[in-house]
Amino acid sequence: MNITFKKIHLDDLMDLRAIAMQTFRETFGHHNTEAELEDYFNTAFSPETLASELMDLDSQHYFALVDDAIAGYLKLNQGAAQTEQELANAFEVQRIYVLKAFQGQGVGKFLFEKALQLACETDCEWVWLGVWDQNYKAQRFYEKYKFERFSEHQFPVGDKVDTDWMLRRSVASLQAEFGQSK
Ligand SMILES: CC(C)(COP(=O)(O)OP(=O)(O)OC[C@H]1O[C@@H](n2cnc3c(N)ncnc32)[C@H](O)[C@@H]1OP(=O)(O)O)[C@@H](O)C(=O)NCCC(=O)NCCS
Repeated sequence: MNITFKKIHLDDLMDLRAIAMQTFRETFGHHNTEAELEDYFNTAFSPETLASELMDLDSQHYFALVDDAIAGYLKLNQGAAQTEQELANAFEVQRIYVLKAFQGQGVGKFLFEKALQLACETDCEWVWLGVWDQNYKAQRFYEKYKFERFSEHQFPVGDKVDTDWMLRRSVASLQAEFGQSK
């Protein structure tokens, strides 16, 4: 299996929107009504929102391609683009999603290690991410990379309140493990 990266540009917007919606539905569909999903897609994944995120110089987006097929994607943020500002000088992995059909084959590892490597090339102190408290599969994946819980964040979804755990790992410990230095 040949996995490669492709930086996502503005003209890939509709491909990004398609995989963003499909992976969100595959991951959280069972927990949301169709109306809640549509509402989320029409705001978070509207062409206007995605275009402005793609043009934001503090964000980076990548596809993982398996052969020529889009199998997953990554959204990384620094500075003002981060969804929370709890940690000073931090690097956020906001989205890492692999299509169900491609999970368990190393695509997530490929994307996450790319994110960690990019974080190691910055002057940031922390890499962090939010994970839904009921997303056990992703939590185990991050545990494997020694990410630790440092905070939590509650947010309304329709008429319920969900909780995200915030996990972090120091860039210095990643550089030590992956053999890179600033
Ligand atoms: C979490 C996710 C990104 C992992 O990607 P993946 O392609 O399935 O994972 P990989 O096949 O690359 O696995 C990488 C490594 O993690 C391990 N791993 C993957 N999922 C795991 C799990 N649920 N529990 C424990 N280990 C896991 C694999 O065994 C592998 O270890 P190895 O390198 O020692 O063989 C993917 O399942 C996904 O997209 N899930 C849905 C979206 C989601 O929840 N995103 C995160 C939102 S916070």
